[in-house]
Amino acid sequence: MAQLTLPKNSRIRTGKTWPKPEGAKNVRKFSIYRWSPDDGENPRVDTYFVDLDSCGPMVLDALIKIKNEIDPTLTFRRSCREGICGSCAMNIDGVNTLACTWGIDEIKGDVRIYPLPHMPVVKDLIPDLTHFYAQHESVMPWLETKSNTPAKEWKQSIEDRKKLDGHYECIMCACCSTACPSYWWNGDRYLGPAALLHAHRWIIDSRDEATGERLDDLEDPFKLYRCHTIMNCAKTCPKGLNPAKAIQDIKKMMVERTI
Ligand code: SF4
Ligand code: SF4
Ligand code: FES
Repeated sequence: MAQLTLPKNSRIRTGKTWPKPEGAKNVRKFSIYRWSPDDGENPRVDTYFVDLDSCGPMVLDALIKIKNEIDPTLTFRRSCREGICGSCAMNIDGVNTLACTWGIDEIKGDVRIYPLPHMPVVKDLIPDLTHFYAQHESVMPWLETKSNTPAKEWKQSIEDRKKLDGHYECIMCACCSTACPSYWWNGDRYLGPAALLHAHRWIIDSRDEATGERLDDLEDPFKLYRCHTIMNCAKTCPKGLNPAKAIQDIKKMMVERTI
C-alpha cells in the first residue's frame, strides 16, 4: 500500500536556538537545516542570530561566521567564494542558488537555509552528488574525434565557437537539476538539465565527430524525453543559463537527424 506520510525518521524537528549576540543592533535570524548520519537523530532546524554589522554581505559570509564564532559543527561546502566552483549551492529562502553570490539583503525577514532538494544528504547542507556526477560523465563531456590528430590543434571558426556560449559557463552546481520536478521523480533515469546542457554542448561542437553516437545514446524514453519544459532550470540557474533551450534543441535534432 502506498505510504502517504513521511517516515518518522525523516520528519524535521525544531532544533537548538543559539543565544543572540550581546549588544548587537543589526541582528538577523538564520534557520538552518541540520542532519548528521552519526547520531541516529531526525533532521532538525537550528536557529542562529548573526550580527550583520560584523559580517560580510553574502549568505556564505554568515555561514562562515556561524561556523567560526557560534557552532563549529555546522557543515557546508564552499571553495572559491566568487561563484565559479559551484560547491556552495544550497536552497536559500526557497531558491536553489549559490550562497557566495546571494546577498543577505536580498532576503526579507528570517533566512531559511536547506540543502539542495530531493538529493540524499551527506551531512547538514551537503548533498550527495555522486549520481549527478555519474550522469554528467555518461554524456561523454569531452571532445570525441575519429580523424587523425592535427599537428597543432583542433581548429574552430569564431562563429562555431560562439555556439558554445551559454554552455561552457556551467559550473555544475546542480541548482537546475535539483529544481526540476521531472528530475525529482525520475532522477535515476532522466539525465536532468545539467547533464543535458553538457550533452548539447558536445553535440553542437563543430570539432566533435561522435554526434551520431551522442544522439543515439539520448534516444531513450527517460534520459531526454522526461523534460516537460517546466523551465524551473532556467529560472534558478545562478549563471543565467538556459538548459531547457538546449534540451529543446536536442529534441529538434532527434527529429531532423540524418546521421
Ligand atoms: S525545462 Fe525540463 S529540465 Fe528544465 S526544469 Fe523543466 S522539465 Fe526540468
Ligand atoms: S546549468 Fe546553471 S544551474 Fe545548472 S549546473 Fe550549470 S550553472 Fe548550475
Ligand atoms: S564558493 Fe564557489 S560557487 Fe560559491
